[in-house]
Amino acid sequence: MNKLLIANWKMNPETLREAVRLARAEDLSGVVVAPPFVYLESAGKALRNAHLGAQDVSLSEPRAVTGEISPVMLKNLGVKFVIVGHSERRALGETDEMINKKVIAALKAGLKVVLCVGEPSRPMTRTKNYVKNQLEKDLAGLLKLKAKSSKLIIAYEPVWAIGTGTPDNPKTAAEMISYIKKLLKAKSLKLKAVKVLYGGSVTAKNSAGFFKRPEIDGALVGGASLNAKEFRKIWGNCFIKYGRV
Ligand code: 13P
Repeated sequence: MNKLLIANWKMNPETLREAVRLARAEDLSGVVVAPPFVYLESAGKALRNAHLGAQDVSLSEPRAVTGEISPVMLKNLGVKFVIVGHSERRALGETDEMINKKVIAALKAGLKVVLCVGEPSRPMTRTKNYVKNQLEKDLAGLLKLKAKSSKLIIAYEPVWAIGTGTPDNPKTAAEMISYIKKLLKAKSLKLKAVKVLYGGSVTAKNSAGFFKRPEIDGALVGGASLNAKEFRKIWGNCFIKYGRV
């Protein structure tokens, strides 16, 4: 499967100028650039090769809800991908029920969904149960919706590895990703060729270890995506060494 690399800028940078500069520097094939909402339009105009992604979306169709951004608004702005259920949003109080509504609303609007799952701590047996439970709840009703595998991407991001400088071991990440793929293929979902990415302290230095595993279809990169030089090195490891652009 072709690899995919997503730059999740989170709540960065502080100015529009820097955002446009970063978008231009990360405008590479096989990449999704996900800036904060306020920079989406300008970043989108700076992209020729990369796709535009959003970091979140409202769970409902357009109606009077102060401060929310609907899936249709994102779609009409040229957004192709939306990150849903990031652990940083879950920590702010997003429940699996809300995430499920977001997944469905975004898919209905024609967006590709990058659903984030991942456990707060190990051991592995507990981890598998934790992630299984998240997937069952977050993807409930997808079979009925006849969602296509190509519209869904899963990002496996162990919470303890995010922003800590301590990534998962590529072998364990690959084991979890194979497990996630098995769950997605089961009768209850029937989602066959879904890309599953790894996220959590990916850097230029450690990225090749993840990309060389065939089970790992790419990465969701946070901190390292704020440094264009570093991000371009990760891209080189992902596509020049281990994937097709
Ligand atoms: P870091 O790469 O900064 O650990 O963040 C990972 C992440 O949360 C991407 O969504």
